[in-house]
Formats: sequence, C-alpha cells, structure tokens
Amino acid sequence: MKLRNKDLLGMKELQPEEIAEILKTAELMKMVLKSGNKKTSHLQGKSIVTLFYENSTRTRLSFEMASKFMGASSANVSASGSSINKGESLMDTARTIDVMSTDIIVMRHSQSGAPHFIAPKLSASIVNAGDGMNEHPTQALLDMYTMKEKYGSLEGLEVAICGDIYHSRVARSNTIGLTKMGARVRVAGPATMMPVGMEKLGCTVCKTVADAVDGADVVMGLRLQLERQTKSLFPSVPEYYKYYAIDQKILSLAKPGAIVMHPGPCNHGVEMPTLIYDSPQSVINEQVTNGVAVRMAVLYLLMTRRNQE
Ligand code: CP
Repeated sequence: MKLRNKDLLGMKELQPEEIAEILKTAELMKMVLKSGNKKTSHLQGKSIVTLFYENSTRTRLSFEMASKFMGASSANVSASGSSINKGESLMDTARTIDVMSTDIIVMRHSQSGAPHFIAPKLSASIVNAGDGMNEHPTQALLDMYTMKEKYGSLEGLEVAICGDIYHSRVARSNTIGLTKMGARVRVAGPATMMPVGMEKLGCTVCKTVADAVDGADVVMGLRLQLERQTKSLFPSVPEYYKYYAIDQKILSLAKPGAIVMHPGPCNHGVEMPTLIYDSPQSVINEQVTNGVAVRMAVLYLLMTRRNQE
C-alpha cells in the first residue's frame, strides 16, 4: 500500500490503513534488526538529512541509525554549528538542504507547524520529528507499535496518558493515532496543564490520575517540560509528584500486568519513581528499541512512494 502524502507531518494526516501499514512494515524491520545482519539496501543511493532545531537523543539517533542500516547517505544539521546560528531563516536552511539532492528531511522545530510550512515548498519529503506543542508522529507510531506488540491489537485498549498534557506533542499524537485505531484514551494532569478542548481529539479528560489509570491496559507518563513554561504551572515538584506521578499506589489501579510507558527523557522522581521506571511492567526501553524499526518503516514507505512518483 502506498502512503497518500509525500510527507509525514502528523497523525492527523494519516488514515487508519496507513498507520496499519507502517506498523506492519515495522514488524518486518524489527525482524531485520534481530537477524544479526542489520544492513539492507532499501535506501541505497538515497540521502537523508536530520535537521534539528531542538535537542534530541532518541529521535535523532534512531533516524540516523535507521538511515544507515538501510544504506542511505545521511547527515545532520543542528542549530549549533550551522548557519542557523548566523540568523539563516528556516526556509533558506530547508531549501539549501533540499537542493543538495536530499530525498528526505527529518525535522524537529520548536514552532508548531514549522514542518507544514516548509513541506509544500520542497521537493524532499519532510518527516516531522516533533514540532513545538503540536505533534510527534513517529513517537506515537513507536508507542502504538509497542502496545500492539504486547496486546496483539490496539482495538479496545484502554490507555491512560498522565502529566503535562498541555506541552506534550506526544500526548496529542498518541491521542489522535490511538483513537483512529480503536483504542480509548483517557488523559489526566494539572488543570493548568490541560489544553482547552483536549476532548475534541477523541479522549476523555479525567479529574484525577487515579480516574485515568483505573482499569487501564497502558499507563503512559509524560515528561514535565519545564523549558516550555514561561511561568510555573504547579506549586512545587514534591506537590506535582504527590498528585500526578505514576507511583505504585496509582499503578495498582490499572489492570493486572498493565504496561508502563514514557517517551523519555524521564525526570526520575517527578513523573514516576525509578522503581516504576525499572519495574517488570515498564516497556520504556522496548519503546526505544522499537523506535529504530518504526523509523526504518517510515523512511522505507516514504521512499517507496517517491520511487513510484
Ligand atoms: N521521546 C523523544 O522525542 O526523545 P528525544 O527528545 O530524546 O528525541
């Protein structure tokens, strides 16, 4: 099945059958990664550039590894050390990369909508690796892949997403993607960190973390994004931990054997204690592992579409 669009900008833009195709392709990619010989020739002769205006470990590294495993030539441009620091505009930077015969640009930017702005003006395919407080589609795809791997299907899964919903592009992309695939999403967090109209994305907004986690199959914590807060939105970290952390007492409300997720990086002792992060119920490291396979699948499907055009 061919992806409809040249770019992957958000879960909003993906149809359920496209999500299913990406997850199915990721299964094959995971088999390749586990086979002992990670090298394939799917992207031989193609070029991929990661353009990161914000910090990243998991997303950037997994896209770079995915590109290399599939034989593409890959390079990275980050704000520090590039002409972005001399004041070059986003459009000029993106066009400069585009005219160097780049096939796919993987971009992270602090402004919501930045990838949507450049995508129609470029020949390269754009993959949104996180835009401001809008979306982080490949994180949602790897989260959904991890849930599907554990439960076999996303249909009917009860997913609780807890914490700093307001600043979380992960919460938005997961809510949109999971509801499209038949899961039920409940969100909870401080009222000051709950966007107005969140329920319009298809989730239930709960008053307490306990209400969200009660009977859940999946309990997802979110990073408290202090760097995006211009003023403090909660009284203190100990108070945040007391009311919004996923601790043992809260987790005991979920279904027995429920899985614990976190997109990372985690503030240990804020969003959850290390005991939960490292517990047998935690699939946080599996999320990272699956990120490589999912990003291989995304790059492969976008490149297949380009080859057919
Ligand atoms: N989850 C996530 O996007 O992590 P990085 O910021 O390390 O890429």
